[in-house]
Order: sequence, then structure tokens, then C-alpha cells
Amino acid sequence: MSEELFRMEGISKSFPGVKALDNVYLSVNKGEVHGLVGENGAGKSTLMKIMSGVFRSDAGKIYIDGKEVNIDSVSKAQQLGVSIIFQELNLCPHMTVADNIYIGRPPKKGPFIDDKQLHADAKAVLDELGIDINTHALVNTLSVAQQQMVEIAKAISRNCRILVLDEPSAALTDKEIDKLFEIIRNLQKKGVGMVYISHRMAELEQICERVSIIRDGQYIGTRNYKDITIDELVTMIVGRTLEDKYPKYERKIGEILFEARNIRRKDIVNVEKIQVRKGEIIGIAGLMGSGRTEIARCIFGADKADSKELFMDGKKITVNSPGQAIALGIGYATEDRKFDGLALGLDVEYNTNMAHLKQLSHFGIIDDKAANINAQKYKELLRTRTPSLRQTVGNLSGGNQQKIVLSKWLCNDVKLLIVDEPTRGIDVGAKFEVYELFNRLSAQGVAIIMISSELPEILGMTDRVLVVHEGTINGDLVTKNTTQEEILYLAAGYNKLEKKAK
Ligand SMILES: Nc1ncnc2c1ncn2[C@@H]1O[C@H](COP(=O)(O)OP(=O)(O)OP(=O)(O)O)[C@@H](O)[C@H]1O
Ligand SMILES: [Mg+2]
Repeated sequence: MSEELFRMEGISKSFPGVKALDNVYLSVNKGEVHGLVGENGAGKSTLMKIMSGVFRSDAGKIYIDGKEVNIDSVSKAQQLGVSIIFQELNLCPHMTVADNIYIGRPPKKGPFIDDKQLHADAKAVLDELGIDINTHALVNTLSVAQQQMVEIAKAISRNCRILVLDEPSAALTDKEIDKLFEIIRNLQKKGVGMVYISHRMAELEQICERVSIIRDGQYIGTRNYKDITIDELVTMIVGRTLEDKYPKYERKIGEILFEARNIRRKDIVNVEKIQVRKGEIIGIAGLMGSGRTEIARCIFGADKADSKELFMDGKKITVNSPGQAIALGIGYATEDRKFDGLALGLDVEYNTNMAHLKQLSHFGIIDDKAANINAQKYKELLRTRTPSLRQTVGNLSGGNQQKIVLSKWLCNDVKLLIVDEPTRGIDVGAKFEVYELFNRLSAQGVAIIMISSELPEILGMTDRVLVVHEGTINGDLVTKNTTQEEILYLAAGYNKLEKKAK
């Protein structure tokens, strides 16, 4: 019999205008990895913030080892052994790994920090988890994956028994996810109970015993992963059945709309040619760090290229800044909504209209009514969950923030839309709607360049795929004639001939 570690009962929480949680239940056993799923805005992060003392619930009870506890602050949660790894990591970038792990409670010799002990202790925690990172390294030199591992080590060094991982895999490569899973399995052996939030079903299947589903702040149920089919799970999540993952669509591809030649930037980008036709969707695949995003940033003028020649409708164009790109009808929905995409302190309406202020203005004055109608239109189109257009974007759930990033760019006169990881963090139902939207745009003649780490998405949505390896294009493939294996092969730097020779 598995032993219950903690339980949340009847948890409710309201924010102004939103009932985020209504009578929610969750129970996790010792050594269990418990999946928590639901659409964007369903209340997953809120529930976990209550568990870890970030928010206080309006009603409900929490039990640890069968005893009722009162978690009224983050430090209280930590005392009780509860830690949360947020998607936005919380380390001090200019301090060492060891300093971060023992921040606020370093080992001391008299009044002084015992540096030797500090690094020895930190190394012991990292070793125990099978993490190979130098304790003297500064956090700002680490990859996102490594920073996340430091966060986990920090939690474990505080003897955490309940660990919440909120979309931990969203920014990791496949290899890094494998490593994360290895660490999770080590924690399981120590009896740590974990809540694992993710929108990726394949991952949940690999790592979770049970999964709990919440929808619109309501508890829908808990299932053993092995007893449920993906279709059943998706139905529980969205409350209806989804027939297909990708909308069927016959695309009409026109003339060449956009061409980029000789894009070079240091030794990061070295691209001979990219051509996109009206109404075409091309994918850019490649491993993380291969230079996919950098290519997009050079085209958009966000980074300075050492050389580049761009053509729109056969005419040479100059793009030295994002402003120039936007004026020429090029949009770029970034992968990093926090730093590039959104003004988190401003409201939904402002953020939606940010990239189309020109169309919404007469003689330089913004037409408030048109701005409101436009923002409302995109809210409905993407089914963005927000109590009103006046809500501060920083208060929306992660996935709903991503929808705002997209809606910023989906204005009518964009000719070329570059989308970078467009469905990262977006739930299954909303993904389908984003894909439908891309199809609708393509029907209007918009060309789309879609950068994505999700190969099924590339295979399901694009007409052609460019595979990037170390900043160069190592394959230009017709999507319907290629396979996941071929793309991975080219992404790893092999070429076709070698493949045939094998
Ligand atoms: N600080 C806040 N102020 C106001 N509303 C909030 C706040 N935090 C969350 N909400 C609202 O509570 C609801 C639940 O949000 P939550 O972040 O828990 O969703 P989620 O299930 O984690 O979604 P996602 O998958 O997109 O991350 C949403 O409607 C959100 O806008
Ligand atoms: Mg969330």
C-alpha cells in the first residue's frame, strides 16, 4: 500500500473577477510523481502556489502525514518540507552555485561564512542527485536546465519532502529532460512526493503514476496513468472530444513573397538562402542552441547581422530594427514572452494592440473604441481566459500570456509572420485553435515561418522544413516526404549522403 504524504481538500481561491479554484482536491503519496493537468488558466499554478505558501487559500484544508497544517507563508511551507520550482527560476545570477543553494543559511565558522564547508556541502547535495555542476560556477553562466537543477538541489538541501515542478520541461532539450527524469527518479527513491505540471502528454506518461485533472478551477478527477487513454485524458481536460490534433487543410501556395540571402552573424548564423511563398508555412527545426532563434532575430532586425540581403515581393528591403520590420509587414512572436514579448505590468488590451497601434490610430491619436474592439476580437479568437481586457498581463496564467504574445502579431497587414515556439506552454485545446488560425492566415496569403522543437507540430503543420545545424541550413525538405528520423538526423549534423551510405 502506498502511503499518503499530503492531501489538499476543498481548496478555493478567488482573485478579483476570477474564481481560480473551487473546492479542489489533491492527494499525493510518498515517492509518487503525480501529474497535474488542465487547460491554460485552469488553476494548476494557483493550487501549487497555495501548497507552497505563496498564496493563501480562501477555504480548504491541507494535511501532511495525515495532520492538518497551516501553510501561511513560503518559509512555513519550507519548514514543513514543501518546495516549488517555478517556471521562472529564482536564482541570484551573479552568485555561485553553492551560494545559491545555501542562500540565507550558509555554514559558518564563528561569525564568518565557512567557504570550504559551503562548497563541500553543496557538492554533496549535487552528487547525491547525480548532478555534475561546478559549485564555484556563477549561475549566469549556466544553461536554463542547469539552473533548474540548482533549484532542485536547493530544495533538497532544505530536506524538502514535497516538491512541486511547474512546467519544468518547457525550456529543456530532450537530453536535458532525460537528465531531469533521472533526478526525479532519484528523489522518488528517497520518498519525496512530487507534483509535476505539464502540457505534454508523452512526458506525463513516462514519469507519472497518477494524474489529476482540473478544469475551470474545478476538480475533475484522478486516474492511474496506465488505466487511461490519451483520448480519455484529453476529453477530461477540455470537457469535449478533439477529433484531430492538427486541422486538415488544403493550402494554396502562391508567388515567392520573401527571400533572405547571405545572413551571417559572427559564427552563430551562416545562412545562404531562405525563400517563403505567399500562403506557405515553413518550419525551422533544429536542436536547441542550433541558431534557429538567432536566424529569426537577424531577419527581424532584433540582432545586427554582419551581412544580409532581404527581399519582399521581389524588391530589396532594408531592415535594421524591429520597427522597420514591422513597418514592412514582418511580425515576430518571440519564444521568450517574459523578456521580449510582453509588457507584463500593462493590461491585456494594451499588449494586444501594441504591434498595431498604427492601424488603430488616426493622425497619431489612438482610437479607443477601435483598440477595444480589436483586443476583444483576439481575446475571443484565441479564447484567452481573462476576467477583462483591463487585467494586468502579469496576472494571467502562463499559457494565456503566450496567447497574448501571438495575438499581438496576428493583425491583418502582417505579410510574413515568424513564430518561435508558438505553442510552448499552450494546452491541447488552444493549440488546435492556434493551428487553425495559422491556416486561416495562410489562406489570406500570409507566409509563416514556424520555429519549433516539437517535431510532430512541424510535421503536422508545415509545407516545407528547413533543418538548422550550427547556424547553417542542413536540409530543405518537403514536409509530406520526410520523417521525424530524417529531420533529427539532419539536425544532428549528418548529411543525406552519409545517411544513404549507412
Ligand atoms: N495574481 C493573480 N491575480 C489575478 N488573477 C490571477 C492571479 N494569478 C492567477 N490568476 C488567475 O487565476 C486563474 C488560474 O491561473 P493559473 O495560473 O493557476 O492557471 P494554470 O492552470 O497554471 O494555467 P497555465 O497552464 O496557462 O499555466 C487564471 O484565470 C488567472 O488569470
Ligand atoms: Mg501555470
